[in-house]
Amino acid sequence: MAGSFHHRPVLLRESLDGLALRPGHHVVDGTVGGGGHAEAILRLIGPTGTLLGLDVDREALAAAAARLAPNGERVHLEQASFRELRSVLQKHGWMRVDAVLLDLGVSSRQLDAPERGFRFSEETADVTPLDMRMDQRLPATAADLLASASAAEIERWLREYGELPGAHRLALAIDEARRSAPLRSVRDLLRVVERARVGGGRRHHPATLVFQALRIAVNDELGALADAIDAAIDSLAPGGRLAVLSYHSLEDRLVKQRLRAEARGCVCPPRQPVCTCGRRPRVRIVTPRAVRASVEELSENPRARSARLRVAERLPGVA
Ligand SMILES: C[S@@+](CC[C@H](N)C(=O)[O-])C[C@H]1O[C@@H](n2cnc3c(N)ncnc32)[C@H](O)[C@@H]1O
Repeated sequence: MAGSFHHRPVLLRESLDGLALRPGHHVVDGTVGGGGHAEAILRLIGPTGTLLGLDVDREALAAAAARLAPNGERVHLEQASFRELRSVLQKHGWMRVDAVLLDLGVSSRQLDAPERGFRFSEETADVTPLDMRMDQRLPATAADLLASASAAEIERWLREYGELPGAHRLALAIDEARRSAPLRSVRDLLRVVERARVGGGRRHHPATLVFQALRIAVNDELGALADAIDAAIDSLAPGGRLAVLSYHSLEDRLVKQRLRAEARGCVCPPRQPVCTCGRRPRVRIVTPRAVRASVEELSENPRARSARLRVAERLPGVA
């Protein structure tokens, strides 16, 4: 329900500063969620500024619509993935944008709703389906993928998206378990993880990395992020800013590498001695190191612990 959408915006001041917003700016919030960041952005861009908010989750958009309604026609909302940024901008007739924000991952609302399948706590494991789709229009849930993918593919997700020690062992255990009964609930998967004795080391619940891997696979999160960074840089006006908030090291690494590549220009493999791509820098990196949450924010919002903010500015003169 829109009214119960509680999500405290993470690194709010830092991301607003990073976006260097001015009155009259045209801004894209690519992950509008419950509209927390968007509401603050609208205050800064004033009555002549406009905001285009995207989200794949229809419940998030309903919550954002209710919260941002007082801003009237300055707000446009669209159920779309941020990887479709170029076509959404075209649809709305926006040629260039002054700022793009991507606040990645799941919202607190999504995490707290057991029926969405993002949560793997013991108390709700029996009633939580293996869903994990951020976009409910996607055809395949996590349960569907676990039923249809080959053991080799499941192992690749666990290794690449979860960086899970024991990926091979767990993929075999999943393959064996699904022969007797399909894995439908979080409990079904937790049992297999427990039996295979793979874990998250000292820092994580044993299932953390497994669920991370599945979520990334279900939503093609890294593919969508790579596309979105490219589309955002393409769409920014000279001097425009892109700010990305990520919540785990795979995402942050991807953001760091893509922004560095765009700041360097050349996209040739690092070992190649001479550049053959001919590309020139398109951005300047504003945050040489990722910005982390302050002690004060951490004391109020533990979710901010893993947050990393990176900002880049579009350079003039390069297509
Ligand atoms: C951390 S929340 C954003 C919270 C928001 N900044 C706020 O202040 O309320 C992330 C949101 O991104 C959405 N999301 C995830 N992947 C997406 C994608 N590929 N395209 C658009 N939205 C996406 C999720 O559905 C979720 O609502």
